Amino acid sequence: MSTLWNPAAYLAFDDHRARPFHDLLGRVAARSPRRVVDLGCGPGTRTVELGDRWPDATIEAIDSSAEMVAAARARGIDAHRADVADWMPAPDTDVVVTNAVLHWVPEHRELLPRWVAALPAGAELALQVPGNFGAPSHTEVRALLAEPRWAGAIEPRDENTVATPMEYAALLATTGAQVDVWETTYLHRLTGSDAVLDWIGSTALRPVRDALDDSAYAAFTAELAPRLRTAYPARADGSTWFPFRRIFAVARVP
Ligand SMILES: C[S@@+](CC[C@H](N)C(=O)[O-])C[C@H]1O[C@@H](n2cnc3c(N)ncnc32)[C@H](O)[C@@H]1O
Repeated sequence: MSTLWNPAAYLAFDDHRARPFHDLLGRVAARSPRRVVDLGCGPGTRTVELGDRWPDATIEAIDSSAEMVAAARARGIDAHRADVADWMPAPDTDVVVTNAVLHWVPEHRELLPRWVAALPAGAELALQVPGNFGAPSHTEVRALLAEPRWAGAIEPRDENTVATPMEYAALLATTGAQVDVWETTYLHRLTGSDAVLDWIGSTALRPVRDALDDSAYAAFTAELAPRLRTAYPARADGSTWFPFRRIFAVARVP
């Protein structure tokens, strides 16, 4: 529950971050669900879309961040502060969506089959997680954190943070659910001199930001910036291509 989130910084890349959500929802078939749950609703921008798609459903939204819950409530979402690790579906839950959240929840591999087993017949659980923990945007952070001056600042997350598509399929299928699992690498075209640093500053670097004081964080990002510029070189027109792999799964209870 400790990571601090900045809703405004997160929303700076909203257009890019909306696409995987829409691709995920494109595989959810529910027509008139009774209850739709947004686990880790963030600032509520996507939760609003759930309400637009299913206007007759009860919308349930939780997030562990007080800042994100406040931002969602400001959008008219009846969001509550809670940890998804403590959540279980109410009996009328027909759709569960968790978009870009479970990589923050170490025990999510155990939670998934438990949730599916507790859902009613016909319910759908849809998840999306980043599958880029082996990409330079993460390996460069880990390499820097392993250097003596930063060692011990935080325990960086490794590639085991998320499961493979095959593992998600197996976890969800254990309960007899029908599963639809896929992955996509998006090629985001970013602008700005430190575009990738700006992107990860609002997400992957949050734990580093929390662990360091202002001047130490400024020193850390000053060292990280040239590494990221080398890994993701800017093009002549100033734009930067940022490949971003994401993993998707939809489970439908028979
Ligand atoms: C990258 S944002 C995604 C927000 C939203 N789902 C979206 O697609 O825009 C990740 C969100 O997960 C929330 N989160 C992380 N760990 C959580 C946990 N254990 N329980 C509830 N929410 C959590 C964070 O507070 C943050 O709002």
